[in-house]
Amino acid sequence: MSSVLQVERLTKDFAAGALGRRRHRALDAVSFDLTRGEVFGLLGPNGAGKTTTLKLIIGLLRPTSGRVLVFDRAPGDRAGRAALGFLPEHPTFYDHLSAEELLAYFAGLCGMAAGDRSRRAAAVLDEVGLGADRRRPLRQYSKGMLQRVGLAQALINEPSLVILDEPMSGLDPIGRREVRELILRLRDAGRTVLFSSHILSDAEALCSRVVILAKGRAVAAGAIGDLTAGRAGGWEIVASDLSPAGVAALQLLAARATRIAHGRYSFELREADRPEPFIAAVAAHGGALVSAAPLRATLEDVFVEHVS
Ligand SMILES: Nc1ncnc2c1ncn2[C@@H]1O[C@H](COP(=O)(O)OP(=O)(O)OP(=O)(O)O)[C@@H](O)[C@H]1O
Ligand SMILES: [Mg+2]
Repeated sequence: MSSVLQVERLTKDFAAGALGRRRHRALDAVSFDLTRGEVFGLLGPNGAGKTTTLKLIIGLLRPTSGRVLVFDRAPGDRAGRAALGFLPEHPTFYDHLSAEELLAYFAGLCGMAAGDRSRRAAAVLDEVGLGADRRRPLRQYSKGMLQRVGLAQALINEPSLVILDEPMSGLDPIGRREVRELILRLRDAGRTVLFSSHILSDAEALCSRVVILAKGRAVAAGAIGDLTAGRAGGWEIVASDLSPAGVAALQLLAARATRIAHGRYSFELREADRPEPFIAAVAAHGGALVSAAPLRATLEDVFVEHVS
């Protein structure tokens, strides 16, 4: 099977300093690859190198060293490009046009026949939730609506690989959810999606795998489950209706006990302990189970640990 995207030891230096004589390494030997049909997250704080990576992938920048293969071709190669859609970080448009006119124009740039352009523009605007507004001039659009026009533009050529630089930025919570659903729909339709974000909950809700960048280096990579596995495990059990004797007995089984109210306690189990025996002990001491929650690390914990 042909590969969707391979990034191999990608490195990018920019000129820096007043005279541009110094070099600033924005990206340092970053490698990852994408499998068909997955949603892949490029994560990292401001300045980590996310946009630089995406620009190198689509051929807007040239690497200092290392290489990129998009569908086994060099970035910028025409056949590879035709299968690729890109949402830039700050999309700006000629705002006297309506969304439909703009998208029909982009459809023309992609080589679509004149008779098909308006239909494709309308379809892609429906897909991003702008169908009802498609005849309004873009200058009347909100920031979130413009972001969706950018998404529509990225999808106009029905790309197999969709690259989105901060697709959720500028969107309210409902807009974010809609973009998340759109990304999952693209995945379900067999597209491959690569997106950058510094918002980890979005990545956690969407990605099969991620790379975390910090100061141009890949500091962590893999499936989200693997990145969060094996750290800060344990369970928190909350129980009520406990007698003082019951509390004393349960305290011996837990790593920590905290009183919430009369007869109601929160117990943190030791990392290696399963919750079932403790829950049985709660019942044996006449208590009632209120909740049992795993203290699994989130991607946020991994992120903070690596970038700070
Ligand atoms: N054209 C350029 N010339 C010089 N330096 C640049 C250029 N583009 C980016 N940089 C530098 O490269 C580093 C990485 O920037 P990049 O825009 O890739 O980060 P990012 O992860 O996308 O950040 P953000 O979350 O703010 O979008 C930064 O230190 C930035 O200042
Ligand atoms: Mg960026």
